Amino acid sequence: MKLLASLLTAAVLVAPAYSAFAQAPAPAAAPAAAAPAAAPAAPAAAPKVAKPDLVQGEAKYTAVCAACHGADGNSGAPANPKLAQQHPEYLVKQLQEFKSGKRANAVMQGFAATLSDADMKNIAYWVTAKKAKPGFAKDKELVALGERIYRGGIADRQIAACAGCHSPNGAGIPAQYPRLGGQHAEYTDAQLKAFRDGSRKNSVQMTQVAAKLNDREIKAVSDYIAGLR
Ligand code: HEC
Ligand code: HEC
Repeated sequence: MKLLASLLTAAVLVAPAYSAFAQAPAPAAAPAAAAPAAAPAAPAAAPKVAKPDLVQGEAKYTAVCAACHGADGNSGAPANPKLAQQHPEYLVKQLQEFKSGKRANAVMQGFAATLSDADMKNIAYWVTAKKAKPGFAKDKELVALGERIYRGGIADRQIAACAGCHSPNGAGIPAQYPRLGGQHAEYTDAQLKAFRDGSRKNSVQMTQVAAKLNDREIKAVSDYIAGLR
């Protein structure tokens, strides 16, 4: 009787521990699996409050921003990020943070300072509707390393897979995670280094991710991202 009781207790104690163990791999796989399911939600994430004025957005963008970011949001210069197809919520957040200085950049602070909240929204919703021009990976030696990091992270250094947040094809998740696919590798490389050295400090998540990457890994993953589509 006593033996049976202690066996039962042991079973009860072991059962939750076992099931927790059995479920452990699931959360790791979840973000990647959830991303494609979330993707069709993109059109629904469009304007919620006041409608953006796309005519105003285009006028302001063309007059002020196009010189650096390209007439259709596809900048030619690799130091200037492509903005086409980027999620509008992310664009507005960046513009507000350039303006406030939370994301420090002398050039963009000056331009963002001239924009009202409505201007930011109008521009963001205009440029997100432009089609992003695909890029391509250039470094044959590093691209395999880049793909491994992007898709699987680096488990033994607790570096999360980029795909878990930015989605397997780099499209991101509207309102939460920016689009990365097709971005200029030089720009991505510079941003990851800025997160790492603390000069870009507007995302705790990205500071943590970038903190553990070395220069070679940053170069590899940036190159891989340029070719994502
Ligand atoms: C003189 C060139 C120049 C002009 C003009 C300019 N930008 Fe920029 N923009 C940049 C550079 C360079 C960066 C990258 C800044 C950094 O390294 O953090 C940038 C970054 C950005 C980002 C962040 C993108 C991202 O992926 O995080 C947004 C949004 C942006 N610009 C919007 C605008 C808008 C809107 C205008 C017009 C009102 C504008 N820019 C005008 C050069 C320019
Ligand atoms: C836990 C979620 C998460 C993971 C994992 C993650 N990111 Fe991010 N990433 C974010 C968020 C959130 C932002 C937006 C930051 C902001 O609001 O400024 C971001 C922004 C970025 C940007 C800036 C984009 C731009 O246009 O300026 C780059 C580049 C980037 N991530 C690359 C990566 C890479 C490479 C990896 C994998 C090594 C990675 N991220 C993993 C959440 C994540």
